[in-house]
Amino acid sequence: MGLTFLGIESSCDDTAAAVVREDRTILASVVAGQTSLHADFGGVVPEIAARAHAEKLDICVEEALRKAGLRLSDLDGIAVTAGPGLIGGVLSGVMLAKGLAAGSGLPLIGVNHLAGHALTPRLTDGIGYPYLMLLVSGGHCQFLSVAGPEQFTRLGGTIDDAPGEAFDKVAKLLGLPQPGGPAVEAAARAGDPRRFALPRPLLDRPGCDLSFSGLKTAVLRQRDALAAAQGGLHEQDRADLCASFEAVVADVLAEKTRRALALAPAPALAVAGGVAANQSLRTALQTVAAEAGATFLAPPLQLCTDNAAMIAWAGIESYLAGRRDGMDLAARPRWPL
Ligand code: KG4
Ligand code: ZN
Repeated sequence: MGLTFLGIESSCDDTAAAVVREDRTILASVVAGQTSLHADFGGVVPEIAARAHAEKLDICVEEALRKAGLRLSDLDGIAVTAGPGLIGGVLSGVMLAKGLAAGSGLPLIGVNHLAGHALTPRLTDGIGYPYLMLLVSGGHCQFLSVAGPEQFTRLGGTIDDAPGEAFDKVAKLLGLPQPGGPAVEAAARAGDPRRFALPRPLLDRPGCDLSFSGLKTAVLRQRDALAAAQGGLHEQDRADLCASFEAVVADVLAEKTRRALALAPAPALAVAGGVAANQSLRTALQTVAAEAGATFLAPPLQLCTDNAAMIAWAGIESYLAGRRDGMDLAARPRWPL
């Protein structure tokens, strides 16, 4: 059974708390999203996010403990996201964790949010080190070679937008609802991925870096060209644009993953982040993994997106590796792995 940790996450627009055991059992995982609070603003508003975290954090922690059937004194440690992210939310989480640790005498571990995502396949599938992680969400996009709980090598990443951001912007351009990823994927099902020749950014450049902002602009141009030619977009045009865009994203990510696996050969390829929900991407990555003789792992969706179980787990791993943080633990809005 081993250690039992509380995890706290508040670095973006989800307030979350979880209780996780060293044997990989998730006793409770509570996530309170804020999508509706930000819906009118077309993106996450930092002040609104900070206030919502401050209001909901202790409720989430209480609920996680209640669901796990444990009291604070039954735990072995408290792990909290100490960055990177929006400073207001990260501060709220770190302050609450410090208060709980001071009051209970439990060890405190500050976790890097990206490490939380990157270590998730060890929580869900118990895989060993090393492995290659592709992290693709609304805020992040990078290839990480993971060799230990605090040993990450960044092989490449986006030089502009994250892929989830590109999905969200394309949805907005085409009048589809937010979050854009699921809306674009649904529309793409009825579309022809070969109708529009969109650019495949950075494929001509060596290495694993990616770029998505030019692709989004190309969709905008196609939309405007169609609108000018026929006085508006037909349902089929929208579906074809979505399918063409989605196919390029999957294609480019697959090719860069192929290169990352060549640079850092690994027995397993894992994907995490909200965009990992995309079926075309999953299929493309599965093929790349099979070619390289690697196992392909995609954690269940609720553990791919922001949650506190991954933070509790990363805290356990860091604690076992000897890490301890004190009351001087700082909130770090920027914290590269
Ligand atoms: O990991 P996540 O919940 O939050 C962070 O960005 O940290 O990821 C959310 C992103 C959004 O941009 C959303 O549009 C995208 O993941 N997403 C998808 C799909 N589901 C969610 N993108 C493509 N296809 C999907 N099915
Ligand atoms: Zn995240």
